[in-house]
Amino acid sequence: MALKTLPLLFGGDYNPEQWPEATWEGDLIKLRQAHINSLTLNVFSWALLQPNEATYDFSLLDKIMALAAKYQMKVVLATATGAIPAWVIEKYPDVARTDIDGRHARQGMRHNACPSSPNFQSLAQDLVSRLAARYHDHPALVCWHISNEYGGQCYCDNCASAFRTWLRGHYPDLAAVNAAWNSNFWGHTFHDWSEILPPMHLTDMIDAGSDKPVLAGAALDYRRFQSDALLANFKLEKAAIRAVDATTPITTNLMSTQKDLDYFQWAKEMDIVSWDNYPSFDTPASETAMKHDLMAGLRQAPFMLMEQTPSQQNWQPYCALKKPGEMRMLSYQAVAHGANTVQFFQMKQSQNGIEKFHGAVISHAEATGTHETRVFREVQALGAELASLPADLLASRNRAKVAVLFDWPSFWGVEYATGPSRQMDYVKQVHLYYQMCYDAGLDVAMIGKETPFDGFAAVIAPVMYTTSEALSAKIASYVQGGGTFVTTYMSGIVDDHDNVYLGGYPGSLQEVLGLWNEEFDALPPETTVNVALGADQSCSASFLCDVTHPTTAKVLATYDDAQLFYTGAPAICQNDLGRGHALYVGTQLDAAGLRFLLTKIAAAAGLDLTAAEPFAGVEVTHRYSRQATYTFAINTTAKACAVANPAPTGLDLLSGATQPATLNLPAFGVVILKTPRA
Ligand code: GLA
Ligand code: ZN
Repeated sequence: MALKTLPLLFGGDYNPEQWPEATWEGDLIKLRQAHINSLTLNVFSWALLQPNEATYDFSLLDKIMALAAKYQMKVVLATATGAIPAWVIEKYPDVARTDIDGRHARQGMRHNACPSSPNFQSLAQDLVSRLAARYHDHPALVCWHISNEYGGQCYCDNCASAFRTWLRGHYPDLAAVNAAWNSNFWGHTFHDWSEILPPMHLTDMIDAGSDKPVLAGAALDYRRFQSDALLANFKLEKAAIRAVDATTPITTNLMSTQKDLDYFQWAKEMDIVSWDNYPSFDTPASETAMKHDLMAGLRQAPFMLMEQTPSQQNWQPYCALKKPGEMRMLSYQAVAHGANTVQFFQMKQSQNGIEKFHGAVISHAEATGTHETRVFREVQALGAELASLPADLLASRNRAKVAVLFDWPSFWGVEYATGPSRQMDYVKQVHLYYQMCYDAGLDVAMIGKETPFDGFAAVIAPVMYTTSEALSAKIASYVQGGGTFVTTYMSGIVDDHDNVYLGGYPGSLQEVLGLWNEEFDALPPETTVNVALGADQSCSASFLCDVTHPTTAKVLATYDDAQLFYTGAPAICQNDLGRGHALYVGTQLDAAGLRFLLTKIAAAAGLDLTAAEPFAGVEVTHRYSRQATYTFAINTTAKACAVANPAPTGLDLLSGATQPATLNLPAFGVVILKTPRA
């Protein structure tokens, strides 16, 4: 049976259980005035739904659901398993997690159930089965929201034993585990499955403030296992819902580039991706764009913006207010990159508890009805605008010629490695190359190793540390067939078990890249070296320098710095192979160097860099439907600016008018130009 499609949801987390019942109706009337059409309910209500093991009480939720329906609110119904009732932990201590220091938790907090606890699994399954049975045909229900922001790790004995079971399912025998992990290193050889323990501070994780495992292969497998174990919890709840409800979409809210979960694996199990966007006051627009594109890239499909704050985030170091227009701008930025909902945390600001200073649609000042606030008015204005957008926009998709590859095993592996540089930050590295494209005005797709490469003119894989032979073969055939593949330092270094490829880096990518690397040099912080770009330009480089020997590749740039004993060695190479090209970047280039690199990529991949305006604060992004192209021009800055109109024949959906050849965008200004397709 086909899943129900979601309308444009405008709403978010509402926690009426924190408020006297007498205030609920007033809240909903107020929220309707702001054009809120959706509520995310029941996220943390387990303790109310089940006061003890024998008792379930849905009476409060029944009332809330009925009220939501009365006010035509579409409900995103959470399964409530993100926070565990105190009695559960008191009765079943194994439901609580053990941390990396071996401390077993008591009750409290949230997002902290041990994924391997049989008691948690059965209690959660029971609760969710009842919720699903009770509400699956409720008229207000549009989407299921399983748990909340899955993440973190557990190191308890149940996890240790589940890890061994996981290993037995992934390796033929213990000898294969020893071989994969090279466990003769420091005498780690395992003679019995029971000897394998989670890598933690009490066991094999060196805690120098950085958590570096002795056996990286084991630590990588532990991460895979924990991601899979939490995913199994998600699947358990999903199955409980699907037993009675075949058609309501099921999601859980993700957190973009968080480290713990391999979202490419998770997305396969989700009907629709949703995520929580909390940029800090100093997050570059390109980073937020990248995160949206990553969330879109998980399923190559539109997603839900499940949470953002209407104004401040209290858990960041400074509760900077979103300036007038900024929340609207960030909402449209999400839509531009594929969001089909705009949702907030939260509808009503808590009066107490850790989130009392977090932004909300109904703030403390607004709560009694005596004052109306700027934030409320901005939400209201946005709600009216969103309601006027054409349905066709939701049917449209992002499309990009350039893809940037993101890979959780590489993220884990390269940050687990002791060396070559303490400055290694995987997300920052990926962002550098995303930003290189973004700054040139290109639409970018974020993809994973399993995503088909064929549709992209260029695939850029920064710091693709973990690279299997099968992936190298996929890359080679992509290049042979006409693709342009780009990779960097610290790519193709190890196999899936963190074993370094012998015979020169980057292992099985040597042939497609037409080069081999002898060693890599880490530059201390603040150190830069000079790089000659072709004959007449230069730039500076930092972080890491590969000592590269080209075999069939031609050299596009060289180190040109007397302080380096390898000065004159290649810094950028290009190998022409079959109908395509493979480029290799051996060092971290500055902005001028990246610009040079991009011109080389563009030339190889046939990209027209003159077609788009370079980023000068205004982001230009496209969504395409059968009928139209939607061009978003978004001033991401607090300063008014003028740019060439990227779609001069288009009609601006927000103002209803065509726009002049030069777009004058106010601070955080947005236009969405709809151009019918020929
Ligand atoms: C997360 C959670 C919410 C809330 C917000 C606050 O996204 O999912 O429950 O705590 O953070 O920013
Ligand atoms: Zn555990």
